[in-house]
Amino acid sequence: MRVGFYDSGLGGLTVLKEAIENEGLSQEIYYLGDTKNTPYGTKDEEFVKGVIRENVEYLVNIGCNPIVIACNTATSLCINELREKYKDIILIGTEPAVKVAADSKINKKILVLATSITVNQEKLHSLINKLNIEDEVELCPADKLVTFAENVNCNSMTKEINNYIKSILLKYNLNDFSHIVLGCTHFPLFRNNFKSVINEINPKIEISIVDGAKGISKNLIRYIDKIKERDSNNICKKNITVITTSENKQFVLRTRQILNIDEINFQTKLH
Ligand code: DGL
Repeated sequence: MRVGFYDSGLGGLTVLKEAIENEGLSQEIYYLGDTKNTPYGTKDEEFVKGVIRENVEYLVNIGCNPIVIACNTATSLCINELREKYKDIILIGTEPAVKVAADSKINKKILVLATSITVNQEKLHSLINKLNIEDEVELCPADKLVTFAENVNCNSMTKEINNYIKSILLKYNLNDFSHIVLGCTHFPLFRNNFKSVINEINPKIEISIVDGAKGISKNLIRYIDKIKERDSNNICKKNITVITTSENKQFVLRTRQILNIDEINFQTKLH
């Protein structure tokens, strides 16, 4: 079984890491990071849809099934049309973990941070409407975090990153909030930055920072178990291949750091 993961860049690795480390994912894994076109969140929607179609088709053509669209932006733009097109492929999407936050909040608000595209898409708004929490949710784009995460010098930019996070959080009275939802798979890479900025703003604030990685990983493992039940030969030894859409040595380094795994095959798929 080949399991595909797809994101605009490094963000989906936060989902893959959760699936491997905490849910025991162990299959032939193909991770596609669209390094050539990242970031998606601030680009023209039709352009982004075009690259999503092309990249998902690539994963389908190399035999991936299931495929995790480990990108909120791609999910909000295209998941319906992709499911329509690939009826035989299990496509697992990623949505901001608003429900996780709503299920455990107590009389306080939820701050959802995501990319501009995700924040503007109907998909997120209808999720919030369905949960009937329109008045208790604030949505805020935080696109620069994606650019920071993909930046070569990310590890030495703590001050700049923290200042950016602070500039966003200071728009709100954090005492009114019980949860911050990291609605972009890149953002959990900065979980510690969020914690330290919140602590700096007010050490007494109690606010939970949530993301969707656990839910997606559990969902993925459920599908894999079902496939294994039907076909016990459809099991492979864990093997990770990371494919980028441009030459990017830094990506190789950062992937090893994030996953904390040395044995990874790297390939470049040039359009
Ligand atoms: N990691 C992505 C997401 O979850 C994509 C961010 C971007 O490329 O702007 O939305």
